[in-house]
Amino acid sequence: MRITSLTTALLPCLSLVQASSFTYNNSSFLLNGEPYQILGGQMDPQRMPYQYWEQRLQMARAMGLNTVFSYVFWNELEPKQGQWDFTGRNNVAQFFRLAQQQGLNVVLRPGPYISAEHEWGGFPSWLSQIPNMAVRQNNAPFLKASRAYIERLASEIHSLQVPYGGPILMVQLENEYGSFILQDANGKQYGGADKTYLAALADIFKANFDVFLYTNDGNTEWYVTRGALNGILAETDDSPQQGLEARNKYAHASSLGPFLCGEYYMTGEQPLVQFVHVQRVTNWGFQNGADLYPTKQIQLATTTTSYSDNAAPLDESGRVRPSFYKYRELFTKYSGPAPNVPDVGSMSTVPALALEAVGSLFDLEAKTPTAKNAMPISMDALGQSYGFVLYEHVARSPVSGAIGLVNGPRDRIIVLINGTRSGVIDVSYSKYRTVNVNLAQGDVLQLLVENLGRVKYGPNITDQVKGIKGDVTIGGTAVQGWSMYSLPLDNVSAASSASGPYAVRANSPPVFYKGHFNTPSATGPDINRDTYLALTNVIKGVVWVNGINLGKYWTVGPQQSLYLPGCYMLPPGQLNEVVVLELEPQAGKSMTAEGITDRKWFNNPDPDAP
Ligand SMILES: *[C@@H]1O[C@H](CO)[C@@H](O)[C@H](O)[C@H]1NC(C)=O
Ligand SMILES: *[C@@H]1O[C@H](CO)[C@@H](O)[C@H](O)[C@H]1NC(C)=O
Ligand SMILES: *[C@@H]1O[C@H](CO)[C@@H](O)[C@H](O)[C@H]1NC(C)=O
Ligand SMILES: *[C@@H]1O[C@H](CO)[C@@H](O)[C@H](O)[C@H]1NC(C)=O
Ligand SMILES: *[C@@H]1O[C@H](CO)[C@@H](O)[C@H](O)[C@H]1NC(C)=O
Repeated sequence: MRITSLTTALLPCLSLVQASSFTYNNSSFLLNGEPYQILGGQMDPQRMPYQYWEQRLQMARAMGLNTVFSYVFWNELEPKQGQWDFTGRNNVAQFFRLAQQQGLNVVLRPGPYISAEHEWGGFPSWLSQIPNMAVRQNNAPFLKASRAYIERLASEIHSLQVPYGGPILMVQLENEYGSFILQDANGKQYGGADKTYLAALADIFKANFDVFLYTNDGNTEWYVTRGALNGILAETDDSPQQGLEARNKYAHASSLGPFLCGEYYMTGEQPLVQFVHVQRVTNWGFQNGADLYPTKQIQLATTTTSYSDNAAPLDESGRVRPSFYKYRELFTKYSGPAPNVPDVGSMSTVPALALEAVGSLFDLEAKTPTAKNAMPISMDALGQSYGFVLYEHVARSPVSGAIGLVNGPRDRIIVLINGTRSGVIDVSYSKYRTVNVNLAQGDVLQLLVENLGRVKYGPNITDQVKGIKGDVTIGGTAVQGWSMYSLPLDNVSAASSASGPYAVRANSPPVFYKGHFNTPSATGPDINRDTYLALTNVIKGVVWVNGINLGKYWTVGPQQSLYLPGCYMLPPGQLNEVVVLELEPQAGKSMTAEGITDRKWFNNPDPDAP
């Protein structure tokens, strides 16, 4: 490599652009033959505005870390099969370069399954449309799609591996595979711990990466024996003492090496700490995911937009929390002096602004059906990943009774008759409400199905198809003749250009609201204009600022405000646009948005609870 011109800014980077070796023996990781203690924390590039990557990495370094651990979200890199997006937040190579410039190494955690409180554990929704596909198993269609992903990712970041002078030290294979169980319809456990799958995946990784692999599992016999793979370094999560013992006892000799606590859940200070979530993280847009949560009250728990890692040393906006200094004190004992903690300005406020109703979701976004069919077509089969699908049926003859869904309701359904809301079927609840309808000939039945997020962890996560799968019945009889309207809402330009005002009536369909605000006057870098956007008189919905989907709110909480980075605002002097989709608009109540500096977490009763 020949470099003809250099600026001083490039020098720290250049000093690291040298081939290194990263290996291990039974007691140490070895960087160029010297023992290297990994002092790491989790930072996922796709969860932060890329404009702030450098600031976040500076904070990690100032906390005394020498390594960042990063999950990669396949579903965002390959939103449609074979169509790749490595721009913006998905430009992970750039994040790793910036990490290196800050003096941080990288442990790559590409999955393909990552769990991570993220949509379907990182899987793209289109996987479900591949015939005979089963995730996390020795299944040819799954491995083929996984191979394409790993190959493409590796081609982006190949030169960023340690042997080529980059910061990537090692790569995690799968994610807590030892926790994965398959269950038959009677709850009997079968399969899982499928080493042929793990070995096939390891072969794909080895063909594409030139650094060593490791597995990371729970810290007992059950997890280690099921999740480790002979010849691959085995590591464990949480309690380091227990993890070390379980690993040494139950992993094959060929999987032994230095001990790494691959995830640590911040319940105390221990010198072995090698993993913390450096900051509270954001699941932008519709990327939140969900959990199976079988209790008497709830069966599906939606993950919030802001994943609340309460003990995280940085908050969602990259500002220090009190624990930051404790971690810094701890880590610098091992890593030596760390750079000074960079100053971050305070958060900004935005005075309350009125949100004006500008049109209904159906008027603005559901003008022509995406498909018509005798039976409903699922969201995934419509080629859509996130958002909503509207299913519409016009009664050909009188029909009455309870609405039934043969494959169970998928998530949350708002039922409307002739444009008036007549009930909500919410499968989050174990005993969800039944909605009875009484349709006359010509009545229009609309089922607006919200994708609450695909399950990210659990025994049976292959079938995460959203929308309606299978027949809809009324009074036990299948209803035929449906129009489907795809509402991915990845673009709210229709609401942006609608002028309103729209008269919101009682039990109205979902409504778009719009308002404007001036960029806060704080000077200096964009981060000084960060705020939390809080809404009044709302039930459930989605917020966009200048066309960027900030995420979801729901009165049940705990999240009542969304992180709005200053870098998503227009330059001072220009008006920013807030668009809100309120799913259950309330007639006669005025909605406002306000930028606040101290967010509050609380819960309210759900008006649609059973
Ligand atoms: C660690 O020790 C075990 C047991 O003696 C041995 O089989 C293995 O090869 C050693 N691993 C390394 C990386 O040296
Ligand atoms: C690992 O390598 C380091 C550095 O050379 C050495 O000090 C240590 O004794 C080695 N450990 C084992 C178990 O070989
Ligand atoms: C899990 O999936 C298997 C195979 O797809 C299926 O037979 C079984 O009914 C499912 N189990 C549960 C509890 O949903
Ligand atoms: C619903 O709308 C259809 C079509 O406009 C009409 O024929 C029907 O009478 C309406 N039903 C009710 C209950 O208003
Ligand atoms: C949003 O949709 C409109 C109307 O379909 C289209 O003209 C526009 O290009 C889209 N914008 C983006 C950013 O995709």
